[in-house]
Amino acid sequence: MKYGDLSHEELKNILMVEKNKYDEFKSMNLKYDMTRGKPASKQLALSDDMMSDKYIGDCKTSNGLDCRNYGILDGIPEIKKLFGDIFNVPAEQVIAGGNSSLNIMYDLLSAFMLLGTGQGAMPWVRQGEIKFICPVPGYDRHFAITERLGIKMINVDIHEDGPDMDYIESLVKNDPSIKGMWSVPKYSNPTGVVYSDEVIERLAKMKCAAEDFRIFWDDAYTVHMLEGEPAKQRSLIEACNTYGNPDRAIVFASTSKMTYPGAGIAALASSVENIKWFKQIYTIQTIGPNKINQLRHANYFGTYDNVIAHMRKHAEILKPKFDCVIRLFEEELKDCGILEWSNPKGGYFISVDTTYNCASEVVALAKNCGVLFTAAGSTFPYGKDPENKNIRIAPSLPPVDDLEAAIRVFCVCVKICSIEKLLENNNN
Ligand SMILES: Cc1ncc(COP(=O)(O)O)c(C=O)c1O
Repeated sequence: MKYGDLSHEELKNILMVEKNKYDEFKSMNLKYDMTRGKPASKQLALSDDMMSDKYIGDCKTSNGLDCRNYGILDGIPEIKKLFGDIFNVPAEQVIAGGNSSLNIMYDLLSAFMLLGTGQGAMPWVRQGEIKFICPVPGYDRHFAITERLGIKMINVDIHEDGPDMDYIESLVKNDPSIKGMWSVPKYSNPTGVVYSDEVIERLAKMKCAAEDFRIFWDDAYTVHMLEGEPAKQRSLIEACNTYGNPDRAIVFASTSKMTYPGAGIAALASSVENIKWFKQIYTIQTIGPNKINQLRHANYFGTYDNVIAHMRKHAEILKPKFDCVIRLFEEELKDCGILEWSNPKGGYFISVDTTYNCASEVVALAKNCGVLFTAAGSTFPYGKDPENKNIRIAPSLPPVDDLEAAIRVFCVCVKICSIEKLLENNNN
């Protein structure tokens, strides 16, 4: 029954029941943290065999380089090949680095600000105001980077097939200060959206007033399906090449959610020209990455097919957790008209929208009951969700029983806040 169609009395009765449930939960002194998309310890354990000495051997790469020593700026050949297969580009177009792709993104964006996007290009900080397109809801840490670097962010809505391309095309066509765009193209954080090939094609060929427009294509969840095969998707690098904008795409990923988030391997892929420029940047910064860890990962996985087989094991652990959240939403809130939720086929998050201006209260009420969710607003630039509706649910970390309790609390909080808003509006 749609809450919006209920009478004042009916709403008040439901509110009383839900408030009693809330008090009961509160008396249980619950303590659940659902704020970040961390893999559960069972998932981390899937990679423990990787710590075996056999994956290090004599510390030499296939072409005889000693991983214990300095050097090999762009990563060892076998890890570049593996990421090349993941990104669907030749290994020469890959740079493999340390443990964090976010760190590479921060670093590269800083370099564009200070040094420009290529040899002889004007640094962005010397070009006046710089703006970035931010599909929303999106990843809070992306937005934190652009905010930290003083880059103005422009919200663009995400639809089922990716960001609103009509709007993006109209923005970038005339404004040379729009220098780039964040994107999580597959199983997006937090919506789970998979960008369609048509959207990718339009991003690759759109006319940009800024010649040095760059798409930060964070393919963090590229092989992170919840069942079956990873979604097939057109390569942005290949599409940009086809449409004469080869340097537009920079693709990032890491093994953070394949092996260990604290001790994985991150990599980027881009055009031959860009890779040349990035190496010039990196050569001043470092003598080389942690090649022992790269060797460990490369030997452990060996092939792309083994990566996928490994990701299936993650999916077996993750899928029941996603199913649990969706089942509870359907059980508790279906047809109430007070919550919409995504039903992703991969990635780490479920995105929900409350009714107008409810999200921050839902999160606060849940917190007061011992259940922590990502702060409302954090899926938007500057932490400001203009409609105060979106909340990111991260089901990966807690065991299913804890998750079930946490989501039941969440549903009660959604009902209480929504009914209070409805009653308030009815009174006005
Ligand atoms: C979209 C996205 N990109 C990047 C990261 C972090 O990646 P890394 O561990 O490689 O720094 C996350 C982590 O949640 C993420 O959701």
